[in-house]
Amino acid sequence: MSGRKYKIAILPGDGIGPEVVSSAQAVLVAAAGKNSLELELVELQIGFEAYHKHGRTLPPETLSGMTECDGWILGPLSSGNYPKDDKDYPMASGKIRKGFDLYSNIRPVRSLLRQVGRPGIDLVIVRENTEDFYPDRNLFKGYGEFWTTPDTVISLRVVTRRACARISETAFSLARSRGKKRLVTAVNKANVLIEGDGLFLEEARKVGKKYPDVMLDEKLVDTTALQLVTMPESFDVILAANLYGDILSDEAAGLVGGLGLAPSLNAGEKHAMAQAVHGSAPDIAGKGVANPVAEILSTSMLLGWLNSRFLDDSRLASTAATIERAVISALNEFPKNLLPLDLGGSSSTDDFTGRILEKIGD
Ligand code: NAI
Ligand code: MG
Repeated sequence: MSGRKYKIAILPGDGIGPEVVSSAQAVLVAAAGKNSLELELVELQIGFEAYHKHGRTLPPETLSGMTECDGWILGPLSSGNYPKDDKDYPMASGKIRKGFDLYSNIRPVRSLLRQVGRPGIDLVIVRENTEDFYPDRNLFKGYGEFWTTPDTVISLRVVTRRACARISETAFSLARSRGKKRLVTAVNKANVLIEGDGLFLEEARKVGKKYPDVMLDEKLVDTTALQLVTMPESFDVILAANLYGDILSDEAAGLVGGLGLAPSLNAGEKHAMAQAVHGSAPDIAGKGVANPVAEILSTSMLLGWLNSRFLDDSRLASTAATIERAVISALNEFPKNLLPLDLGGSSSTDDFTGRILEKIGD
């Protein structure tokens, strides 16, 4: 079937970003070729590279280039190392999520390997992406942390009915479409953050009423952190505000082999961006040993999202399936030393990417 061509922005980012994004790009191109999916890839600068070329970590050229694309693939950014209070170093990731209203952050956590991590885990963290304790997102202008005296900082937390309702809708519809346990666990600390988390739960319950086939379980965030370790198989969709969702994602990734395997998609009504859960990993950057799987699976999630937008184009779904099959098959190859370094093997990023490409070619 011949269909339209999709324009995808490639944003390499900092640290291991260029290494894992170029691997994701190679896998995407091969899988698309196999499924006759036409792509136009456009590389745009972001992070330190953009700062050196254009004077800003998120230059206007990049933003306007992004608006012309159907989807974006972003590498991690070393935002924690950007000089504070410097307007030329905006926190690009937050700016994109907020600015393009990518309000849902979808983070699946699955047992993908026989040899590493815990078996039987298949859950998704649905994290709100535009407000909460994140100071770069919760004010119209400025930054939501304030020095009120030389010895005191006040951090502002924003919780809106609209954001809670939207993210609850994402979680419930995902639990329904997964058709597994049909369970949404709404993570909260409403015993302490009575008003903010109370509002969050109020909206989760309201949305839940529209999904009588999906159960709502309200769980304190500390209890959730414990049960993720003691009984991770019991979870299905975890619905969480921004900060809780971020912390729980790294914890949950640790159960199934680590951050190298943890994909994520930032999605709104009009745009979506593939972006692995992990950061720029400065400890291994430039060594060619990063595990590219998280970025690759994030890319396949982006294709899934595009497919839900352009329902008439099955090439998107089949390309996503090709990628996922190839990754799972490469991850389960014996012996174990064929795995990337973080999973106990000795494969470089390029070696492992090559193995995934071979599987696509099979
Ligand atoms: P990190 O996620 O970059 O690294 C944590 C640990 O996991 C490190 O030991 C790293 O080597 C390992 N790791 C991460 N990804 C890996 C991969 N693909 N393959 C193999 N090992 C991997 O977190 P860290 O070190 O706390 O933060 C580094 C920088 O990244 C900071 O500037 C932080 O602000 C930023 N960051 C950016 C994110 C983003 O852009 N999405 C998310 C999280 C952190
Ligand atoms: Mg994080």
